[in-house]
Amino acid sequence: MSNRLLEIRDLKMYFPIEEGMFKKTTNYVKAVNGLSLTVNKGETLAIVGESGCGKSTLARTIIGLQKPTSGEILFEGKNILEFNHQEMHQLRRDIQMVFQDPFTSLNPRMKVGDIIAAPLKAYKTTKNVKHRVLELMELVGLKPEYYNRLPHEFSGGQRQRIGIARAIALEPKLIICDEPVSALDVSIQAQVINLFKDLQKELNLTYLFISHDLSVVKHIADKVAVMYLGKIMEMSENETFFQEACHPYSNALLSAIPLPDPEKEKTRERIVLKGDLPSPANPPAGCVFHTRCPFAQDSCRENTPPLEKRGEEHFVSCYFPVEHKPAEKARSVVN
Ligand SMILES: Nc1ncnc2c1ncn2[C@@H]1O[C@H](COP(=O)(O)OP(=O)(O)OP(=O)(O)O)[C@@H](O)[C@H]1O
Ligand SMILES: [Mg+2]
Repeated sequence: MSNRLLEIRDLKMYFPIEEGMFKKTTNYVKAVNGLSLTVNKGETLAIVGESGCGKSTLARTIIGLQKPTSGEILFEGKNILEFNHQEMHQLRRDIQMVFQDPFTSLNPRMKVGDIIAAPLKAYKTTKNVKHRVLELMELVGLKPEYYNRLPHEFSGGQRQRIGIARAIALEPKLIICDEPVSALDVSIQAQVINLFKDLQKELNLTYLFISHDLSVVKHIADKVAVMYLGKIMEMSENETFFQEACHPYSNALLSAIPLPDPEKEKTRERIVLKGDLPSPANPPAGCVFHTRCPFAQDSCRENTPPLEKRGEEHFVSCYFPVEHKPAEKARSVVN
């Protein structure tokens, strides 16, 4: 049996830009633009990339909130874009999401018990809903006496625990976490990340973990995929990424991580990318990164480098990958 849970092939999600009185489509925001990746059962694939590169659009497209322009999304080998109503109903149970903002992702008027019970009632999975809710609360570290409280009575970390309990209620196969700890204090971030890890072991969960914070990614991911303007630039196992990332964009991201050792921090060489992220409505021709790449040549401006295998589980989309290992400094940081 295949170990692949999710496979995305050449996915494109374009949003029309409409102008004028008659709302004529003049162009498209190419939020996801030919993206392929695989997530295996029981692993955590982290997606990293700067704001606006299409991470949340990718997440929303996978859970079926928007219909992609083209491409394939295979879940357990079946293309979800061809699913009928009943299959979609099952898929909504199998794939759950945890959102960035624990303040807005919970209904402020609903009690904690009711929030966590909602999916159980919708899918009628148990007769004793309250018992299951209390079991879930215990799993995520919420006291039973919180059952009747409202979300505003909780801190950010606790609210995220409520969101996580809701997400695991139906025993999903995949959880998409969209920046789930970005809104939390650093000390709380670590607790919530540990909770994600414990639950993964206990419930055999698979995560697609979206984050722009490489220190967080280092702690949670089995594999890392770097996204830029709707495409994957590099993908590899965690250790390979932090030791041998070779896409110039990955190297720039790694060089931006501050070092805990003040002496080393003084000598840290930061690769500062020139220019801003180009508009996804008009992505550069050839390699989309060429306008900011210190190593770009004519071939990069003319052709799009394919995502090629460079080593075991290591893929890179670049004609001139960086041969040296990325800065020692970047690595020692995030241990
Ligand atoms: N429904 C939509 N209609 C039009 N454009 C959209 C829509 N959703 C997203 N976009 C555009 O698609 C691009 C990618 O947005 P997306 O929210 O996926 O980025 P992101 O990587 O999640 O960013 P962030 O790190 O800030 O959350 C942006 O340019 C955004 O403006
Ligand atoms: Mg986002």
